[in-house]
Formats: sequence, structure tokens, C-alpha cells
Amino acid sequence: MKTTFTNIGQLLQVRDSNTSILKGQDMSSVPSIKNAWLAVENGFIQGFGPMEDYKPNSSNTIDLNGRMVCPTFVDSHTHLVFAADRDEEYVMKLKGMDYHTIAANGGGILNSAKKLQETSLNNLLNSARKRLHEAIAHGTGAIEIKSGYGLSFEAELKMLKVIAQLKQEFNIPIKSTFLGAHAFPNSNQEAYMECLIEEMLPEIQKQQLADYIDCFCEEGYYSVEQMEQILAAGKQFGLKPKVHVNQFNSIGGIEKAIEYGAVTVDHLEVLSENEISLLKASETIPVALPGCSFFLKIGFTPGRDIIDKGLPLVIASDFNPGSAPSFNMSFMNSLACIKMGLLPEEAFNASTHNAAFTLELEDQVGSISKGKLANFIVAKEGKNLNSISYNFSTNWIDQVYIQGDLHK
Ligand code: NIG
Ligand code: FE
Repeated sequence: MKTTFTNIGQLLQVRDSNTSILKGQDMSSVPSIKNAWLAVENGFIQGFGPMEDYKPNSSNTIDLNGRMVCPTFVDSHTHLVFAADRDEEYVMKLKGMDYHTIAANGGGILNSAKKLQETSLNNLLNSARKRLHEAIAHGTGAIEIKSGYGLSFEAELKMLKVIAQLKQEFNIPIKSTFLGAHAFPNSNQEAYMECLIEEMLPEIQKQQLADYIDCFCEEGYYSVEQMEQILAAGKQFGLKPKVHVNQFNSIGGIEKAIEYGAVTVDHLEVLSENEISLLKASETIPVALPGCSFFLKIGFTPGRDIIDKGLPLVIASDFNPGSAPSFNMSFMNSLACIKMGLLPEEAFNASTHNAAFTLELEDQVGSISKGKLANFIVAKEGKNLNSISYNFSTNWIDQVYIQGDLHK
């Protein structure tokens, strides 16, 4: 089945399908076609061009009356599977308690783990399914989802199975990351490390439940040495790292992650000049999570500096019940611009084209390119690229198409 969308006011992010990740100054432009058409066939982008070259044909036609079309967002870092919100911790935070004090008082990751262990796979699946539908309605057309709220053999496997089921049910690309090393469930760190490496990883491989491995490398969580053991074990099972580092402290996680060929290092709220140089000399992609900085009232990743130094940058939501309870990628674009000093073009590239590389999905999503999935957003009337970040927390999206079908 072929459908042609006509009279597109602006078709954004039109690129050759083999364009590399954008670094530095290259992030400041978003190629687009004014007054365009876009043809979709069997879920893929079949062609596009300016209206003056459009030849009416027998395909189904949808007139977009001058509205903007752009590719969907790629949200490369989420914790979308969880048992319950942690809004009570949010109120504690408003009363002045910080992330670490809340965790020490029975909140934090362990609070989510306790609730998740008590929740059935089916109930987890039901709530995750609803959230994912809503995230798509907010413009996300490819996503990464982590485990890490299980923290036991059974519960981590349960989370990964929920993600596997979402992969079956949804027609957007989904990548699954094993984050057994999110926190320690109790004071016996050695026993948990052994369970993670000797029991969880072999079973995960047997059932093919993960695409990547993650670790929360931070004071009070996993040390660099512990992360190294986990990444080394992950490597044996063919899992590349995508890790949480430098959220509160720089303890050497970036260097180690690079050494292990990490695809991404995520958070980076605390980042030295030397670490920026190390990243620049590597293939590892820096990922900023501005929703987390906003919500926890901590510093923002120095995104402006990262781009000015010629590196690539990606932004993601970090959607989770503790530190970033929003999957709204448009709002992440606003925060990237207003709080990190990015331009709208840079923020958009960071959450579409560049973000696709962090999930190794650059052949499928991230731009309007021939042969990529027809996952795109139709904007409301009168909206343009700037509107995405300018109209903060206001919905500029009219419709979302996934594989050429309207998402309802
Ligand atoms: O990416 N920093 C570690 N993990 C999550 C938050 C986890 C939680 O508080 O539940 C994050 O921010
Ligand atoms: Fe996270």
C-alpha cells in the first residue's frame, strides 16, 4: 500500500540514509525541504521531494495543508518499566531532602525494586504498555528500555521479559538494556555481583533478553572496579555497554567505559575538560539527560561545551519514577536549549539523527531518508522547528505516524 502526503509546509531532517553522526558545528543545521511531498510504502519512506516535482499518481493522497513534518524522536535512555510512581519522594524533595537522603530513608531505586518484586509480570506489562503508547503520542518513534528495578534473578528476568513482550506488541524499534547493576539490593555486594555475573547474565543470553549492558557507576552505588567486572562479563555474552556515569561525581567511570568500547556514556552532569578530551578521542557517544537535572535540581550536562569542542551530543529523557518522571522529548528539547544553551537545530539533531546511533538504529530511524521507517510527526498548523523547544510543555504535535500508519 502506498500513501503520499502532499503540501507539507516544511519536511524536516531530510538526509542521505548513510549520513554519519553529527559532531560540533555540523549539529547546527537541519536540512529541510519547503513545500514538499512524502511517499510511504509498506511502512517505509519510499520517496520525497518538492511539490513542484510532484506527479499525481494512483496512490492514496493525504493533503497536509502546509503543516510541518519531521521524523519521530529516538529516546535512547529510559526506565519505562516500573511498578509505581514515587510521587511521595517528590514531595520529600520539595521539602528539602536530596536524592541520597531519600535513598537512605527507604526511597530511591530500592523502593522501586521492592514494589516491582511484588508486582506480577502482567501488571507490569499493562502499565508499561500504557506508558509506551503515551510516549509514542508525544512523538517518540524508537526507544531504549532498561531493567534495573528488579535487583534479583527473578525480578530482573521479569522486567526483561516485559520489555521483550513490548518488542513483540509495538511496531517501533525497541532496544533492551540489562541494568542489574543499578543498586545493591543488600549489603552483601559480593554475593549480588556473583548472582549478576554467574546466574543472570547466562540466563539472559540463553533467552536473548538484552541488547546492551548498563551499570550505575557512582559513589554509593557501583565502583569503577565493580563496573569493570560487570562490563567484562557482559562482553563475554556479547553485550556492549551503555552506562550511567558522572551523575553526581566523577570517579573514573568514563575512562573505563571507553576502554570497554561503550556505545554511550549517559548523564555527565559532572564532566571535566579532560573527560571531554577522552570522549572526543573515542567512539563513545555522550548522552545528556536534561529531565533528570531539571527534576533533581542538579547541574546540567555541559552540552554547549561538548558541541563547541567538536563532539557529537545526544539528549534522552531518562524517563523513570525517581529522577525523571517525563518521557516528553519536546520538553527535553526545551531544557537542552534553555538550560544547556543549545540551539533548536542542535537539540533536534541530538534527539533524532544522532540519537539513532546510540541504539545502532541509524539505518531505520532518526531522519527522513529513503528506506527508513515511516515514523514521523505532523505538527499543528503554524508550527516550525523552533516551536518544538519554544512552546515548552505545550503540545505542538497534531499526529504521529508509525510505519506509515496513524498512531491512535
Ligand atoms: O538514570 N541514576 C540512576 N538511575 C536513574 C534513577 C533511578 C531512580 O531514582 O529510580 C537515573 O537517573
Ligand atoms: Fe537512567
